[in-house]
Amino acid sequence: MPHDFAPGSVWLVGAGPGDPELLTRKAERLIAAADIVFHDALVGPGVLALIPPTTPRVHVGKRSGRHSKDQRSINDLLAAAALAGKRVVRLKGGDPSIFGRSTEEIRHLAERGIAVRICPGITTASAAAASAGISLTLRGLARKLTLVTAHARAGEALDLDWAALAAPEATLAVYMGAAAAGEVSRRLIAAGRAPDTPVLVAVNVSLPDERILRGSLSALAFLVETISGDDPSLLLIGETIGAPATVSAIAETRGAVGTIAYARDA
Ligand SMILES: C[S@@+](CC[C@H](N)C(=O)[O-])C[C@H]1O[C@@H](n2cnc3c(N)ncnc32)[C@H](O)[C@@H]1O
Repeated sequence: MPHDFAPGSVWLVGAGPGDPELLTRKAERLIAAADIVFHDALVGPGVLALIPPTTPRVHVGKRSGRHSKDQRSINDLLAAAALAGKRVVRLKGGDPSIFGRSTEEIRHLAERGIAVRICPGITTASAAAASAGISLTLRGLARKLTLVTAHARAGEALDLDWAALAAPEATLAVYMGAAAAGEVSRRLIAAGRAPDTPVLVAVNVSLPDERILRGSLSALAFLVETISGDDPSLLLIGETIGAPATVSAIAETRGAVGTIAYARDA
């Protein structure tokens, strides 16, 4: 058994965006050693296939029909398994520290004296940039990278610092942004971001049905309309997306990344 995975302890493990080859070796080792695995809805099927068939797996994702208030039940399930002496892996899509509600789980476990550690994963923004053949930062053009969520509580407006997000040198990676794409586009333009700022919508990143859609900020809502509501997607906004070096990189990788649609200023 691995020296760093004692019975009664928990690892929060980053599963990456979906492709099992984007998993760290440490993640793979921990998954193989676990007595039980709790996983999110967005953990890819190829990653789930690495869980030994004899290891119980529990789907605790919101897409399984649960509501977000069930975070408390997830915390309790993790604690109960650890207190029963099991080696627990909590598999989370992407990187556990990015919009992954890790802190709630860590706090809950730590308060009960349960040892908990984190294994990082590749976050969707990195994987989307790789698939699209772009860099998220670019010397002189994109000196800042902002990861932001556009998920608002039901009935509430998006509470974001639009002036800061509209800074021309920032690349924005918007998680959970598809439903709010129209508002993101309007508010950024109203705050001074150029309507022709390049944008990219990355759907099902690193999975066989990945799609990379490109356009401009003013056409963002239109781009998002073409994707199915259930498919996870990430919005990337910023000058680096349209930088000239990008185009040849896309041409080279085109076969590997699937359908690429061009929809500038639709
Ligand atoms: C709760 S957040 C979790 C983010 C995750 N911890 C990470 O580091 O990527 C879920 C959001 O991440 C994005 N996402 C996760 N996996 C994705 C994928 N394979 N393709 C596109 N977007 C994805 C979507 O914006 C989705 O709504």
